[in-house]
Amino acid sequence: MPEDTDNPYLRGLFRPVDTEYTADTDSMTVIGEIPQDLNGMYVRNSHNQMHAPMGTYHPFDGDGMVHAIRFEDGKATYRNRVIKTVGYLAEQAMGGKSLWPGMLEPHLAEYRGWGAMGTMKDNAGVDVMAHAGKLVASMSQCGEPYHLDMDTLETKGVHDWGKLIQPFGICSHFKVDTETGEMMFFNFGETYPYMHYGVVGRDGQLAHFTPIELPGPRWPHDMGITKNYTILHDLPYHFDPELLNQGVRKLTFFKEQPSRFGIVPRYGDNSEIRWFEAKPCFILHLSNCYEQGDEVIMDGCIQRRPGKPQVGQQGEDAHDRIRKHLDKHNTGTHMYRWRFNLRTGQTIEETIDDEVSEFPVVANDIVGRPYTYSFNTLFKPGDWHMAGVKKYNLTNGDQQRYEYGENRFGSEPVIALRPGATEEDDGYLLTFLTDMNENQSECLILDAKDVAAGPIARIILPTRITNGTHATWVEADRLQGERLPA
Ligand SMILES: [Fe+2]
Repeated sequence: MPEDTDNPYLRGLFRPVDTEYTADTDSMTVIGEIPQDLNGMYVRNSHNQMHAPMGTYHPFDGDGMVHAIRFEDGKATYRNRVIKTVGYLAEQAMGGKSLWPGMLEPHLAEYRGWGAMGTMKDNAGVDVMAHAGKLVASMSQCGEPYHLDMDTLETKGVHDWGKLIQPFGICSHFKVDTETGEMMFFNFGETYPYMHYGVVGRDGQLAHFTPIELPGPRWPHDMGITKNYTILHDLPYHFDPELLNQGVRKLTFFKEQPSRFGIVPRYGDNSEIRWFEAKPCFILHLSNCYEQGDEVIMDGCIQRRPGKPQVGQQGEDAHDRIRKHLDKHNTGTHMYRWRFNLRTGQTIEETIDDEVSEFPVVANDIVGRPYTYSFNTLFKPGDWHMAGVKKYNLTNGDQQRYEYGENRFGSEPVIALRPGATEEDDGYLLTFLTDMNENQSECLILDAKDVAAGPIARIILPTRITNGTHATWVEADRLQGERLPA
């Protein structure tokens, strides 16, 4: 990357890292004490553009780079590695020249690309999770599921099961049920049937892959799982289908079109899906889903006002428009609950909290089960900067918050439960933080029971790292493979 770029998404908090590091706590400064019972790995993905971009660069275009910190016996080892996708390797082979445009300029594509649009590079820079002893990295526009080595983070190509689902690929936000070891995933596309749904078994083999019919091309981002069901999204914020027929991709919020949520048995197909209607909205990320009596409960961050807000004003450039589009305050994003009654077919909706938050997370072992705590990220108004964390007690309404401070921006956190934890906040909240005052990055460790108290330990990383996308915690007993079912 040239260093003199004036693109705000390639400098400052978004400045890419150009070096791969390996460092342990013998060389990294630790402020406080790393808990002895913190055992596992925190992995966070990012868009870390490696070559000068073709056309207008969107902050979701950059090459994937994972940052990981492995904890054991009160010590920590940090690594960051570029995800060596096919597109990245081709660009390296051409001497470091971008060969694919990003998501905003599909018309510039000279080569066939990846993703639902088929024009951009598969950057694998959005999501990362552990499944069956391997890391899985993907991009949200549906690409190939990249396999990263759990110990070294080196790219090992595409998962074997991923080779069986091409050309449809996988969206970000696959979900692992740690009780059974199964991983559920979906994709979306611009041609009929517009979606697929699948399950990878705890052995890492494709166990289920089935087409899901939608009324047209859609642009979903997340899905939910419960003990018995998967919840798929058909939301009224997507490319205008008439313009799409003319080759023009214009994201539009169809305010009169209901949201639809398809509840399908874990190994069900299109004939078994039950669609529930709800108010028009868009959703990026769910907190958690579970079954309760006749109901399936789905919690997540709703966007009241999806779409491009107030664009095209005098003096605005493409970066101003991107910033407004990503600003969670413009989209009015907040915690919300949908209740789908499997007996009556009715949907009940309710706001949980009006405060703007996103990136809601729970501990891995809580996914798909009744739960109490959601840990959400707070955003600095006016930009895509993660300013703090808010903990919701969804049972009694209590709230806690911790803000990182002026010019200090965090990442999607993870909850690392203590071994043998019997409460879902009995453990630690981890996040990577970039401090623009000190020009450094750190890993923060907070007590998940008392996030308001601030960090119990801070580990200063060997480099300042770029703003991140999604993250995961890999428990020590899941590093080699999924647990045996009880
Ligand atoms: Fe996401």
